[in-house]
Amino acid sequence: MRVRVFHTAQEAARAAAGAVADQLATKPESVLGLPTGRTVVEVYAELTRLYAIGEVDFARAHTFNVDEFVGVHSEDARSYCAFMQQHLFSQTNLPKNHVHFLDGATADHELECGRFERELASTGGLDLLLLGLGNNAHVGFNEPARSLRPRTHRTRLAADTRRANASRFGGNREDVPREALTMGIGTLLGARAICLIATGASKARAVAAMFSGRLSTYQPASFLQLHENVEVMLDLAAAEKLPESGFDAQP
Ligand code: GLP
Repeated sequence: MRVRVFHTAQEAARAAAGAVADQLATKPESVLGLPTGRTVVEVYAELTRLYAIGEVDFARAHTFNVDEFVGVHSEDARSYCAFMQQHLFSQTNLPKNHVHFLDGATADHELECGRFERELASTGGLDLLLLGLGNNAHVGFNEPARSLRPRTHRTRLAADTRRANASRFGGNREDVPREALTMGIGTLLGARAICLIATGASKARAVAAMFSGRLSTYQPASFLQLHENVEVMLDLAAAEKLPESGFDAQP
């Protein structure tokens, strides 16, 4: 895993956006895996800026978002789908039919997760997966648990995660759905390249877990250590608990 530490969150976000832009320059028909969350708002702002000045082109790209809330329709303003429309899709030339999302409002979750996996496989798989990081070291919605699931599945959200997402649901944790659909750890690790961004002191412990040299289902992001091509973009606060040697860390 390669680590790049920046002075500010904004610089880290620019670097993550740069990784996406470089990927699209090298392979315009790239399949991108995309996350949501506060951290990536800045990444998407930079990507839309680059698009506006003609430095990135989404015309041939495909995107697969990593997760969605159960019971929330894609047109609901609180959905992750709506988040993506607002922050990226509506401001770029990514064709509508190149956007792939889990349907949280489906009646049959198992069928939906299978459909999503097949759709991903039929596009050739993820070329670049951009990831955020949960305070509790979740990736996508793979929460700390006794065991992790390899493929896309329905999952229960941790109390901490529901709290972190409360702002999308009027500020009340109780209004955040208890479940979500998410790519599994194996789906994430199937990407040819991964770029994870984490900023702020609240992520420092989860970041350290990623470089611990140990795998723990209670720290799902630790499984990224199994991947050969991961780049981690941090600001100083998120890098705070990394040992000095962690900067060129080899798992
Ligand atoms: C959310 C999402 C993740 C995201 C993470 C970080 O709950 N399910 O995909 O990466 O948590 O969010 P934030 O950037 O707001 O801290």
